[in-house]
Amino acid sequence: SLGETLPKNIILIGFMGCGKSTIGRHLGKLLGYPVVDTDELIEAKASMPINDIFAKRGEDYFRQLEAAVLQELSAPDAPRRIISTGGGIVTRKVNRRLIKQLGYVVWLQVSADEIYKRTARNHDRPLLKTENPKQVIETMLTEREPLYSDCSDLTLDSGDLDAEEIACGILESA
Ligand code: S3P
Repeated sequence: SLGETLPKNIILIGFMGCGKSTIGRHLGKLLGYPVVDTDELIEAKASMPINDIFAKRGEDYFRQLEAAVLQELSAPDAPRRIISTGGGIVTRKVNRRLIKQLGYVVWLQVSADEIYKRTARNHDRPLLKTENPKQVIETMLTEREPLYSDCSDLTLDSGDLDAEEIACGILESA
């Protein structure tokens, strides 16, 4: 399989709605690697949906769980995986360091307008439950872009290509 020629994890980072989960699933199929999502691992660990973790324990606690999950994925005997991450995982320095150590990091870049279109109807994102999501997206994206850039080995525009084409592009560069 292709996986034998690519003996490393692929980590997908980027803002909410950039396509991490969808592209991750395509990569998993192409490589025959298991696909994991840090948000899902956290929900299992906390036995609570993300929304409840934010509401009951706060964002800082959530970021600590992100660090714990990244640490677990870094175990020396861990199998190679495709790892999709929560959009804010890069906001903590410790998480940026763990991500870089974990494997080949791909930043899926999208514009604020496109993010707004893709997330407007999704109510599972606590940070976008606000009066003015468009403004919040623009501000957060501006803050985070240098952090994604700092972590990544490859940046791909995830705006117009379809998910399968992007997944193939990642494998050509990895
Ligand atoms: C967050 C993004 C979410 C999730 C949480 C916080 C963020 O993940 O981790 O709601 O800070 O941008 P997705 O990027 O998968 O939506």
